[in-house]
Amino acid sequence: MSSKDESVEIVVCYGTSCFARGNSENLVILNTYAEDPEANATVRLTGKLCQGQCMDGPNLSICGKLYHGVTAARLRELLQQVVRPLGVSHVGADHGTA
Ligand code: FES
Repeated sequence: MSSKDESVEIVVCYGTSCFARGNSENLVILNTYAEDPEANATVRLTGKLCQGQCMDGPNLSICGKLYHGVTAARLRELLQQVVRPLGVSHVGADHGTA
């Protein structure tokens, strides 16, 4: 969680391999989560280009911790098990890019 705005930062790899292997779907899930008033977390979505770990993708990070092989099912688990407990009452999204 960022000390600046207390949001949960999720960085999605926008590289071709990760995007084709699941991050395009993950982005839809994350946008839906960010706009869900029941989500209980302020999510700040950003993106990065390929980080050279394509073989382990799709990759994304949550509060600086990198997760590999994040399928849609795995992402839903992470949202419940990692993001939700970090949440605060306000929900929002920032769709900046790196
Ligand atoms: S495309 Fe994501 S690490 Fe290369």
